[in-house]
Amino acid sequence: MKRLLFLFPFLVWANEDFISHYEYGEMLYSQPRGVSCAECHGESGEGKIIVEFRDIHGKKVLRGPDIRKESLASMINSVNSYHKIMPRYYLTDEEVRAIYDYLQEKNEEYLCKTDEGNTSASE
Ligand code: HEC
Repeated sequence: MKRLLFLFPFLVWANEDFISHYEYGEMLYSQPRGVSCAECHGESGEGKIIVEFRDIHGKKVLRGPDIRKESLASMINSVNSYHKIMPRYYLTDEEVRAIYDYLQEKNEEYLCKTDEGNTSASE
């Protein structure tokens, strides 16, 4: 019995209901009931080249934009709308918020350094 009591805190930690808001956001960013955001926006939302190809006009690069400075409102809007490349997702505002908070926290240092108030959707 003593042994079991000792194990109890670890069992609680292992329980999915007890993941932090950050971990929840991390999970949604990589598994958002659809293609992972990281596939196109990089591990931390820094943007990424999706594919490079050549057509009659020469070399083309398809990239997922840097979304680290995206505001929560524009993220909710993007995730919920149709785009040429990015899929539409069916995530609640709370879920998008978790993704947003995750990216904010993960990129805290970068966002502090480039703190020129650029949270508007410039594109
Ligand atoms: C298949 C690649 C792909 C995936 C997966 C993807 N995106 Fe995107 N995303 C794009 C591209 C490309 C754009 C630019 C608009 C367009 O052409 O679709 C974009 C635009 C955005 C924008 C607006 C930024 C801007 O500068 O226009 C936000 C915010 C965003 N994505 C967030 C997300 C989140 C959050 C997820 C996961 C739930 C996600 N994206 C998944 C490719 C992707």
